[in-house]
This record gives sequence, C-alpha cells and structure tokens, in this order.
Amino acid sequence: MQQPLSIKPYITEDQLQKKIAEIGATLTEKFRNKQLIAVCVLKGSFMFYSDLIRQIDADITCEFFGVSSYHGTTSSGEVKVTLDLSKPVEGKHVLLVEDIVDTGITMNYLKNAILSRMPASLTTVALLEKPDALKVPCELDHVGFKISNEFVVGYGLDYEGYYRNLPYIGQVQNFQ
Ligand code: IMP
Repeated sequence: MQQPLSIKPYITEDQLQKKIAEIGATLTEKFRNKQLIAVCVLKGSFMFYSDLIRQIDADITCEFFGVSSYHGTTSSGEVKVTLDLSKPVEGKHVLLVEDIVDTGITMNYLKNAILSRMPASLTTVALLEKPDALKVPCELDHVGFKISNEFVVGYGLDYEGYYRNLPYIGQVQNFQ
C-alpha cells in the first residue's frame, strides 16, 4: 500500500516542459541529420525520456537500460543491471537519458558501460542533479535543474516504487 506521505510541489509541469523544450532544441541542433540511439535509463527516466525525445528532431531509435541502486531514500552504492541494451551501440551516436544524478555512481557506471562498447559519441543528459550529494566526479553534458540535497518524487521518480505517476516533481515533507 502507498505510504501516506505529504508531497510539496517543487518543479511544476510547466517548468518541466519549458526546460525539456530548451534541451530538446539544443539536442536537435547537435543531432540534426544524424542517427541517434536514445537510451532511457529505467525506471526513473521513462517520463522525462518520452517527453524529451519528442522534442528532438533527429533520426532516433530507442533503447532501454535498466539499473537499480536505491533502497528507500538512500543509494546502496552498488549498481545492479536489470535490463541490458538490446543492440550494439558500436560506431553510433548515443544519448544517455537519466532522471537524476545524486551520488553520481549510477551515471558513472552507465557512462563506462556504454563507452566500453565503442560508440561514435556519447552525450549525457539528466533532468535533475544534486551537486551537494556527489560522491564521485560526474561530468554531464546537459542538466535540467540543479537541486538541493533532498529526496524528490514524481515525474518518474519514486519512493519505494510509488509516486512515479505524479506529473510534477515534489519534495517529501514527512519521512518517519
Ligand atoms: P546515484 O547513483 O546516487 O547518482 O543515484 C541515481 C539513482 O538514484 C537515480 O537514477 C534515481 O533512480 C535514484 N535517486 C537518487 N536521488 C533520488 C531522489 O531524490 N528521488 C528518487 N530517486 C532518486
């Protein structure tokens, strides 16, 4: 059963969509007339990913990479692959789409996993970044919003599997 948490709106639907349109326009400039493999990092980035790829005017194919590293509100620091890419990315342009960079461990893992497969290029984008939570250096090409080191839910992001369906990003008010 869903936890009875109180969620305070933090980034509205309107703010999300404006930012995604901006990032999409920048990526269109970069990838116009190119073939691009857009990689959705499951589960958290599915909503951001589906909105973002609709804002990029390029020849896109979709791939899904499943990883998990969280228990409740803390990162375990260990990345477990739950679903691998279905096709090789060697010689292709890859856009890696992540929901949030917290400690940076997951994004680093994903970048290394993709770079080891020899793509023509790798571009990273994260909707959210918590700069104060970084534990390993993590360079990103595009970031939607830099946020404080607090747990957020909604727009794909979960707490214990719930709240992914909120259309906005919210901050949790009452963790026990
Ligand atoms: P990292 O490896 O610590 O950077 O964590 C990355 C993953 O942890 C993200 O892809 C999310 O799935 C999850 N995560 C980190 N911070 C939050 C948060 O505030 N809310 C929900 N999930 C989060």
